[in-house]
Amino acid sequence: MRRILCIVVLVFAVLILVESKSTTGSRVLVLLDNEDDKKLYTRFFGSLEGRDYIVTYKTVTNLNPSIELFSYGERVFDHFINFAQKKDKTDSITPTSLINFVNDGGNILLAVSSEITENIRNFARELDIEFDERDTFVIDHFNYNVSDDGKHTLLVSSNFINNEAILSKEVVEGPPVLFRGIGHKVGSVPLLTKVLWANDTAYSYETKDDQVVDQEPLVIGNNIGLISTLQARNNARVTLVGSLEFFSDRFFDSSVQKLKSSESYPKSGNEAFANDLTKWTLQEKGVLRVTSRLHHKDDEYEQLDTYRIKDNFTYTIEISEYVNDHWQAFNGNDVQLELIMLDPYIRVNLTALPTNEHQEHHSRKYKAHVQLPDVYGVFTLKVNYKRPGYTYIVDTTTITIRHFRHNEYPRFISAAYPYYTGAASMGTGFLLFCFIWIFNKDAGKSTAEKKKIN
Ligand SMILES: *[C@@H]1O[C@H](CO)[C@@H](O)[C@H](O)[C@H]1NC(C)=O
Ligand SMILES: *[C@@H]1O[C@H](CO)[C@@H](O)[C@H](O)[C@H]1NC(C)=O
Ligand SMILES: *[C@@H]1O[C@H](CO)[C@@H](O)[C@H](O)[C@H]1NC(C)=O
Ligand SMILES: *[C@@H]1O[C@H](CO)[C@@H](O)[C@H](O)[C@H]1NC(C)=O
Repeated sequence: MRRILCIVVLVFAVLILVESKSTTGSRVLVLLDNEDDKKLYTRFFGSLEGRDYIVTYKTVTNLNPSIELFSYGERVFDHFINFAQKKDKTDSITPTSLINFVNDGGNILLAVSSEITENIRNFARELDIEFDERDTFVIDHFNYNVSDDGKHTLLVSSNFINNEAILSKEVVEGPPVLFRGIGHKVGSVPLLTKVLWANDTAYSYETKDDQVVDQEPLVIGNNIGLISTLQARNNARVTLVGSLEFFSDRFFDSSVQKLKSSESYPKSGNEAFANDLTKWTLQEKGVLRVTSRLHHKDDEYEQLDTYRIKDNFTYTIEISEYVNDHWQAFNGNDVQLELIMLDPYIRVNLTALPTNEHQEHHSRKYKAHVQLPDVYGVFTLKVNYKRPGYTYIVDTTTITIRHFRHNEYPRFISAAYPYYTGAASMGTGFLLFCFIWIFNKDAGKSTAEKKKIN
């Protein structure tokens, strides 16, 4: 018996060890143009496999087993990484199937080059991202690597988003990255975040020999997105990278030197940047969860369903963040609580309490004291936390607020004193009247009447 138990425990331990670092699953589909391309990105794929992902490589050219993201309506991969640029031979990877994949919670990393396919362009359009025409490049005559061949498409950029959920401090403060590829225009959908963009001096155009720029470019300056991300409402993440070379071993190992700038870096920031970006896209970081919530009256510690109007009330919620393979206390300090019945009646900031190390969940407690409104009904306590880079938190609890019971009012209330006085004076007046009427006889008159009768 004990031996069987040991084996079971061992099997579970192995299963847990094999589990990848992502919070949403470990099955990755990588789509390439052909087998040889794998050799161009060994460092990138190596880091992916090193993080215990089960990576399936498929190529566009020999599609004997067709590529399916779904099988019998079920997602067969948790993440999809596209490095394929060849003309749309992959009929099963259509914009619709990609959208379905995202709607079902799958994460997507799309690297495209200037040979972008229509399918990917259409998919990007669904996300409100417009890639420039085929064969265009982002060109910047001021920020390029010295090795550039005169077209100035090998950009050097350090316009990173400063958001710790996506890029760690080391990357943001680290060396610039190399980028050669297509630019895109980012729409106004609030779910989109630009992660890397071009400098003010850049524009997007074709690079034929003796090219004349006679038409307005699609985008110019820092409106050109180089890398952008979208986090859908279901927390699925999509990252679009306009350069395939960005992930190549050559760029990872390359040194960087801007022309006219004395500063040179022995190694580009590409590798660290790409690692952070894939970690974010595959939900290894910036993932939040609510571990517990509690509400009670200030002076009691029992969680009730029904409170009374004007009760003094305490709400506590615990939030933890997944960073680098473990759950830790979330560091945000802008979490808010809303008390809603159709409209928010109360919106307050939750105070972040200091963590104590002995907490089991490695989470941070947030607390708010409020006085419930003078309105009764069914209310929702809502923590609606949506910040770029973090998964969204929408946590709701329903409570009922009742009015005072009749025996909860004070016995005499000052507003009623006119009525008390009215009732009392009425009673007194009536007694006085009766008293007078009964005991007050007109003595003279009554004797005269008696005489008449006699
Ligand atoms: C390009 O961007 C960098 C970093 O933001 C900035 O320091 C530099 O001045 C910019 N260069 C130009 C020519 O705009
Ligand atoms: C960028 O320039 C440096 C310095 O000349 C060079 O060593 C490096 O190979 C260049 N990178 C690329 C990708 O061409
Ligand atoms: C709630 O707190 C306020 C001020 O802190 C106080 O005036 C009020 O009496 C309290 N209400 C109850 C029901 O304890
Ligand atoms: C809540 O926090 C925000 C910033 O996080 C601040 O601007 C706002 O004034 C705070 N509100 C209250 C009521 O303290």
